[in-house]
Amino acid sequence: MDLDQDICLCFHVSLRKVKNFIRLEKPVRASQISQCYGAGTGCGWCRPFLEKLLHASQTPIVAAPPTEPAQPDPASEPVRPGPPTLDAAHGEADELLDTAQPLESLSAQAYAHLRKTYVDSGRGTPP
Ligand code: FES
Repeated sequence: MDLDQDICLCFHVSLRKVKNFIRLEKPVRASQISQCYGAGTGCGWCRPFLEKLLHASQTPIVAAPPTEPAQPDPASEPVRPGPPTLDAAHGEADELLDTAQPLESLSAQAYAHLRKTYVDSGRGTPP
């Protein structure tokens, strides 16, 4: 998905508009992104992605301090949990699409097809 493609298909709000809104308005909560042309206030499909964009903008990029190369001991490696998932309210989108995957790696057609599947299954109603 490139910047000029719609992330909110209900209200035709592009990824660029949402990213610029987040950069300029600095919303604290994902629900505030609805002030960007109503993004996220229709069927609900795009909400996990809007939330992900907001969280990505709030995560500071900090360079890791230099460290000595560690000698890994595979037997003592702790089991690491997978990437954090969005809360249960967004589980429906997670079922259809791995929301941890970058939006840029998803074609607009694939995104729209998955949203259609979401709507057709009765999980959300477009305006
Ligand atoms: S795609 Fe954004 S609310 Fe439906």
